[in-house]
Amino acid sequence: ITVQVNKPIAPVPKNMFGLFFEDINFAADGGLYPELVKNKSFEYDDHLIGWKAIRGAAGLESYVVSGDRPISNANSHFLRLSAKTAGPDAGFVNEGFRGMGVKDGAEYTFSVYARKGAGNVSGLTVTLQDGDRTLAQGQITGLTGEWKKYAVVLKPSATAARDRLKLTLDGAGAVDLDVVSLFPKDTWLKRENGLRPDLVQLLKDMKPGFLRFPGGCIVEGMTLDNRYQWKQTIGDVASRQPMINRWNKEFKWRYTPDYYQSFGLGFFEYFQLAEDIGAEPLPILNVGMACQYNSAELAPISASAAKGPNAADAAEPTLDTFIQDALDLVEFANGPASRPWGARRVAMGHPAPFNLKMLGIGNEQWGPQYLERYEPFAKALKAKYPNIQLVSSAGPSPEGANFDLATKRMRELNAEYIDEHYYAKPEWFRQNVGRYDNYPRTGSKIFAGEYAAQSAGIANNENKNNWDCALSEAAFMTGLERNADVVSMASYAPMLAHVDAWQWTPNLIWFDNLNAYGTVNYYVQQLFSQNKGTTMLPLQLPANAKNGTDNLFASAVADDAAGELVVKLVNYSAAPRAVAVNMVGAKKLGKTGRALVMAADDLNTQNSLQEPKKLVPQEVKFAVSGPVVSYTLAPNSLTVLRIPGR
Ligand code: AHR
Repeated sequence: ITVQVNKPIAPVPKNMFGLFFEDINFAADGGLYPELVKNKSFEYDDHLIGWKAIRGAAGLESYVVSGDRPISNANSHFLRLSAKTAGPDAGFVNEGFRGMGVKDGAEYTFSVYARKGAGNVSGLTVTLQDGDRTLAQGQITGLTGEWKKYAVVLKPSATAARDRLKLTLDGAGAVDLDVVSLFPKDTWLKRENGLRPDLVQLLKDMKPGFLRFPGGCIVEGMTLDNRYQWKQTIGDVASRQPMINRWNKEFKWRYTPDYYQSFGLGFFEYFQLAEDIGAEPLPILNVGMACQYNSAELAPISASAAKGPNAADAAEPTLDTFIQDALDLVEFANGPASRPWGARRVAMGHPAPFNLKMLGIGNEQWGPQYLERYEPFAKALKAKYPNIQLVSSAGPSPEGANFDLATKRMRELNAEYIDEHYYAKPEWFRQNVGRYDNYPRTGSKIFAGEYAAQSAGIANNENKNNWDCALSEAAFMTGLERNADVVSMASYAPMLAHVDAWQWTPNLIWFDNLNAYGTVNYYVQQLFSQNKGTTMLPLQLPANAKNGTDNLFASAVADDAAGELVVKLVNYSAAPRAVAVNMVGAKKLGKTGRALVMAADDLNTQNSLQEPKKLVPQEVKFAVSGPVVSYTLAPNSLTVLRIPGR
């Protein structure tokens, strides 16, 4: 293998390897967003999803979801309970998201808006219950005839993964309840509406270059009506209106009828998350088209320019509404307090701009209908914000006429980034390592915005996060790295999945209500991201291994900041393989290198909640005696050699 250290090609893009977030597989509610109460405001279409009267009607005289003088118009339903006699049966239980994960000794803030009705209810007893065990109990007292927020801190006496929250009435009579919340105090950076810390830590440990959000198909919606609208996800958390999730039961692959979006994790929180983990924010917005796999509904195109800040409220939005939403988003992220949307960000506690530099227009859309919407969209954005870089969509498949049509036109339009998605068998990834070798070196760059090897078939429920897939992705990523002058960004997808509530597999990170683990695919992504270096170096494989035909794949970069040369090598074969890497023109070579190695004889090896670190990178030292570095690659391995030198 020859690496021409003395012939650097181009800088490695600073934010090349990043993260793709979509609220699929309970990634937000029940996952990253740690509110433990499901349907806290009784605003789901079926208003009592997640809630149950303790003994049905027997415990209570009556219960009803009411709209009689609600706390606000935005939050127009609440639960009215009435009991003839007080007692342990007079109340309601919330099941959480496949239960509630609580930890021994940790603190949880229970809060509720309550109002007393007829009778003598003086307060509520709040219980955390694991089966028959009471883990914590608290009291809400002093209810009045007006809506008021009450809170009490609960400290469980044991750890439980499937806890439930029980509310019972103290006294006989009626009471109204709304915005019932149980929120851990231990959040990322201890923020009040903060995120689940173990999951954020895993994201941060990736050293991600960017965070793409909020999807995925969720951007598009099943219909335009339930597309993702960022303006409805900011401001007071209690007033954010939940909406059915696109991955709810309507979706054919797995039945999850209780999947909604509370938007407690909304656009402000996404920007904040990106900032916290050191990633560039990359929001993807709806282009005026619903999901092509569902209704494929289209917003009419109007010739007029954007209308103004309230255009999004129009009942039947035209393309102008979508364009205005995008313009307003840039102002929300970057604008000063003197502008209406900048003021909203400041009011939410972030006076400094979020420094938004990129914006995606549409997800997995292609063909003439996409192009006729993309063009005015891009024109309006560029006219007002010439420095915002635009990500355009090219469809889900790397092959096919529509894909080519979109890509060709995007290149003609000089689109900055073309978002390609690949979900394919592991062999596709190994066979397509050279995909960008002949891609034009000028013009539009590539954003590999979603990809994952599928062991059993695309979006097949039997897919596994196994080493075969991860190693094949690693092979493909050497091709991305060798072409980093045209492939600017790449992200594995999807990112998060709850082990008891997923709709799609494989995923980067799996979790339950208490724990989380990175898959073997996660550690491959992490190795590339943490070792992406700063400068691309030309690398030639031996003639028989060209483009991996010999199951050997490699790429090289210099890490100028660390003063190291970095070579990534994939040996996709059951036998060890001795390689000699000739570092042509290398200077100041040190004597000892570090190898970061992931290797498993069994290609079916997987991490799991039980064995979260079964296969993770191991570091070994090796001797460097001159510019030709000899190393024996383990069977089925990814090896990152870090060699001191320039
Ligand atoms: O990652 C899951 C889905 O795959 C995304 O929502 C969509 O963009 C793609 O088809």
